[in-house]
Amino acid sequence: KFVNPLPLVRPVPGPGVIDARAGGNPLEISITQIEQDLGLGLGVKTKVWGYNGQYPGPTIVARKNVPVQVYWLNQLTTGNNGTGAYLPHLLPVDVSIHWALRDYIDEEDIDDWETELGVPIVTHLHGGHTESASDGLPEAWYTPNGAVVGPHYVKGSNIPYRYDNDQEAATLWYHDHALGITRLNVYAGLAGFYLLTDDNEQDLKARNILPADEYDIGLAIQDRMFTTDGQLFYPSEAEGEMHGMEMDDAPEPSILPEFFGDIILVNGKAWPKLEVEPREYRFRLLNGSDSRFYNLKLTEEVKIWQVGSDNGLLQVPVKQTEILIAPGERKDIVIDFSDPALWGKQIIFTNDANIPFPDGDPVGEGASQIMAFEVTKSLNTNYSLSKVRGLLAKGLQPVPTEINTKNLKVRKLILFEGEDEYGRLKPMLGTFEEGALDWHEPITENPALNATEVWEIYNLTPDSHPIHLHLVSFRAINSQKFVPVYGSPEDEAIGKLSGVNFTSVPLRPERGQQGRKDTYPIAPGEVTRLIATFDRPGRYVWHCHILSHEDHEMMRPYYVGAMPA
Ligand code: C2O
Ligand code: CU
Repeated sequence: KFVNPLPLVRPVPGPGVIDARAGGNPLEISITQIEQDLGLGLGVKTKVWGYNGQYPGPTIVARKNVPVQVYWLNQLTTGNNGTGAYLPHLLPVDVSIHWALRDYIDEEDIDDWETELGVPIVTHLHGGHTESASDGLPEAWYTPNGAVVGPHYVKGSNIPYRYDNDQEAATLWYHDHALGITRLNVYAGLAGFYLLTDDNEQDLKARNILPADEYDIGLAIQDRMFTTDGQLFYPSEAEGEMHGMEMDDAPEPSILPEFFGDIILVNGKAWPKLEVEPREYRFRLLNGSDSRFYNLKLTEEVKIWQVGSDNGLLQVPVKQTEILIAPGERKDIVIDFSDPALWGKQIIFTNDANIPFPDGDPVGEGASQIMAFEVTKSLNTNYSLSKVRGLLAKGLQPVPTEINTKNLKVRKLILFEGEDEYGRLKPMLGTFEEGALDWHEPITENPALNATEVWEIYNLTPDSHPIHLHLVSFRAINSQKFVPVYGSPEDEAIGKLSGVNFTSVPLRPERGQQGRKDTYPIAPGEVTRLIATFDRPGRYVWHCHILSHEDHEMMRPYYVGAMPA
């Protein structure tokens, strides 16, 4: 642990960075299989999938209101530039769930679909205020060179995706989103940062309020498992008992309720270290894991300010002693290493979040440590120190503090645990009126174009689920404990509610969660109320960002504006 230098992710031009701040011609980004040293200490390279030949993918740097266009090229083939035979997946694919190629393969090619059709991919810009046709919807997937495409395919391989970037500076990320195979495509390596800047953020950097240039670093945290010869391992046997159910008749390979790995990669390297100067750094934390929450703490007394959440800067920096981050979330923090007591020291980022979160098993040895900072570099006096600490009263960005919910449409939605036809745990979404619903059932969330709505999401399950809405930046209003009221045992079996009894007062989110959000962990036994304005028309999705849940029905389409007949 702590021998690999951290691969640097920064919003400055350099290797592995695509500077798209000036716009220009559409980018071409290929999706291929590569071999990369993940720092496992085994002297071997690991087969992974990357964007433009790297994992994590290149860091795309964009600027507010300057559109970026991208051809996402599926070249998961044996030769260069999409030539040669189709590559099989690096990981075992469960073909029994509702997934991209389900209607395209029959009993006969169930064993050779990978070499006959190839692997479907589709890329989503997470947190992007993106038109529906460029959103990377789960059924907008396509196989290598666009040979077979999903029912919602519009763009990707022949027409570039378009990102308007008409939103505040934020730490966004892009990742694969193909229906029922997202967890495997992301696990194989398909994820990267998309750092969006704007005048306000540039001004904060120019005034040395936020650390800039080499002091502004992205940290993508992902847990993994490996075989003894250093290749990616993803468990796929649903044997024995799980959630109180016997799993002996489950398909093989099978999706599992969650995935928790014991090796931590940060920016694609195992337990890395970063040597730092005695000054402030900004770190853009991204939880790119399947199911694991992280509750991060530093082993020395070091000041941490949270300066941003998913969709932009906070109104004011928030002093934190620990940072809880759920799959899909981003938290921007500033750490101050300037205290002379820290000089020469190694400071470890630790994690103590239970699996599943919050009431599952203890974290375990491997994932209890993330990476190390070593305060061993001398101060580069060409850079002024940043002053975020002096800013607690002044503000980083205007985020409205008052939330007015009067006369707004309120939707009552549920998070539910069902069971699939093999007796496997099937996490689902649904509504009060209808109970739990599968992905393919008719759309129930249909906001009018430009409507502002309150979504009350009631968690009927024993675990926390990070709920993500595409398109919108939302605010969390409050959370409240409840007990469900059912009309009958039949209703209860499908999560159909006739009401709830509240057992606590509504509580505002902690201050670091009061800003612009696109993913929010909803605690078991609680409702969280979100407010959002649905200001682009068309088809989108909302889902749990535990990738093993989203792949197994915990995802629903929604539609803004008039639906086509
Ligand atoms: Cu980050 Cu719909 O996903
Ligand atoms: Cu979930």
